[in-house]
Amino acid sequence: MSSAPARRPITDELRQSVIEDLPEVTWITNADLRAKVVEAWAYALAESSFSRITDLPPEGNPGTFLVQRGTQADHLRGVTRIATSIADEFLSAYPEADIDRDVVVAGGLVHDVGKPYEFDPVRRAKWTADPSRAGLPALRHPVYGIHVGMSVGLPEEVTHIVLSHSFEGDFLTRSLEGIIVHRADSLWWAVAGSAGLLDPRSNSILDSRKIAPRALKNNLPKGSVHTRLPEVGKKAILD
Ligand SMILES: [Fe+2]
Repeated sequence: MSSAPARRPITDELRQSVIEDLPEVTWITNADLRAKVVEAWAYALAESSFSRITDLPPEGNPGTFLVQRGTQADHLRGVTRIATSIADEFLSAYPEADIDRDVVVAGGLVHDVGKPYEFDPVRRAKWTADPSRAGLPALRHPVYGIHVGMSVGLPEEVTHIVLSHSFEGDFLTRSLEGIIVHRADSLWWAVAGSAGLLDPRSNSILDSRKIAPRALKNNLPKGSVHTRLPEVGKKAILD
């Protein structure tokens, strides 16, 4: 009945690949939260066919929003940087504002932690073959992300962001940090679409959102967008 990838062990090598692919995790000052963000991604990858975060395609939803280059790590890092910039702007202009910067960074990094499940080619082949059996998908990534977050003990302030970053959150009252990550995520996709960075297959959805993609000014460069964390320093983050 079930057609799912076999669960792999969560190794230190897997954890280190997460730190390498998401170096902004070092911005989290609380050591326990930092470790749980790494653990959440390692846990999600271990339940999927993907070896590491940079193996995930740069898609918003399978087959819809697709960036023309880079990987899912570039999206996660971009959203985290935008969300943190929003928090820092308010914290500097209005120091009386009670924004938890660690929760913003953690929420930005794990908001799509359910994607290794929803994007998994083995699971998608099963769901697509007969959506009447388990649905298509069986669970969207914000919902599966809750399973991941609660399994590794992420605080509910962060698991709330995982669930509410997308339209699932429209049924809830979003937290302050949840509003920041939700807006940073949708802004990232809107800007990517308007700047012409998405695959033309996304054009009909852009059109429905009244976003017109502008032509790129240069030929498409090759490769990833952000650089990985150098070898030095990775171990220290895990300790
Ligand atoms: Fe996202």
